[in-house]
Amino acid sequence: MKTALITGAAQGIGAAIATTLLQSGYRVIVSDIQIAKGQETAAALGANAHFVPLDVRREDHWEQAMQFIGDRWGAPSVVVNNAGISGMQQPYQPMDPEHINSALWQQVHDVNLNGTFLGCRYAIRSMKGNDHHSAIINISSRSGMVGVPFASAYASSKAAVRNHTKSVALYCAAQGYPVTCNSIHPGAILTPMWEPMLAMNPDRDAALRQLCADVPLQRMGTPEEVAALVAFLCTDAAAYITGAEFAADGGIMAGTSATPAR
Ligand SMILES: NC(=O)c1ccc[n+]([C@@H]2O[C@H](COP(=O)([O-])OP(=O)(O)OC[C@H]3O[C@@H](n4cnc5c(N)ncnc54)[C@H](O)[C@@H]3O)[C@@H](O)[C@H]2O)c1
Repeated sequence: MKTALITGAAQGIGAAIATTLLQSGYRVIVSDIQIAKGQETAAALGANAHFVPLDVRREDHWEQAMQFIGDRWGAPSVVVNNAGISGMQQPYQPMDPEHINSALWQQVHDVNLNGTFLGCRYAIRSMKGNDHHSAIINISSRSGMVGVPFASAYASSKAAVRNHTKSVALYCAAQGYPVTCNSIHPGAILTPMWEPMLAMNPDRDAALRQLCADVPLQRMGTPEEVAALVAFLCTDAAAYITGAEFAADGGIMAGTSATPAR
């Protein structure tokens, strides 16, 4: 049985990825900084799911997590760098390029970019000796492909994840490692990440409608729709795909809001 490590998997997209990979036959390692919730998520998935505490910003946590997995089951075949924060929090702090404070800028990059950098480094080191196709999948965002004026730290961190994915892919190819690396760029996916933003509007339904107004498919995506793409990129059928980026965004990136009307 192959092993998949998923970061930030206590809830949201990460939990859906863990569920889908488990259903695809993987032993899944649910990791997160939320200990109780992560344990709960792993327990609900049954005997082939295990919780490992892992703050993606911490090298010592990565050491311990990889050691724990390696000692019991050998090197993982899949590492999904999913943990991420939007930077939107209560009380609200501005995230535009003029007003964002350095601490918040740093905080967002620490989790989204530095956490993914460490995840890639530890994944390469442990999976390079595998005798089968192994996959690193980085969850970037649609926000990593365009400017986002009022979430500039998030956009910057996700753009860097998109680019680092390609460096990792090319490096592994050049070294002859059996490791592919790809990024996924979700649009608006309904998860707890949106709650602080939805809470700012007293009319939740109106806020949700507004969020989808510019989505060609006119709805938010589901965590399972992102997880399905992750599951495909883990398969041997995807072994020739590396350094690539995949949008799962209801069509947002296919055009612009300035497209002339019919
Ligand atoms: N939901 C969306 O619309 C959307 C869109 C594009 C990209 N994404 C990306 O998808 C990923 C998952 O987002 P989500 O919507 O499920 O969010 P979420 O907030 O529901 O879940 C994120 C998880 O990451 C964990 N986490 C936060 N900081 C961590 C750290 N330092 N170390 C380990 N775990 C940490 C949280 O505890 C939480 O369980 C994120 O990288 C996010 O940026 C989400």
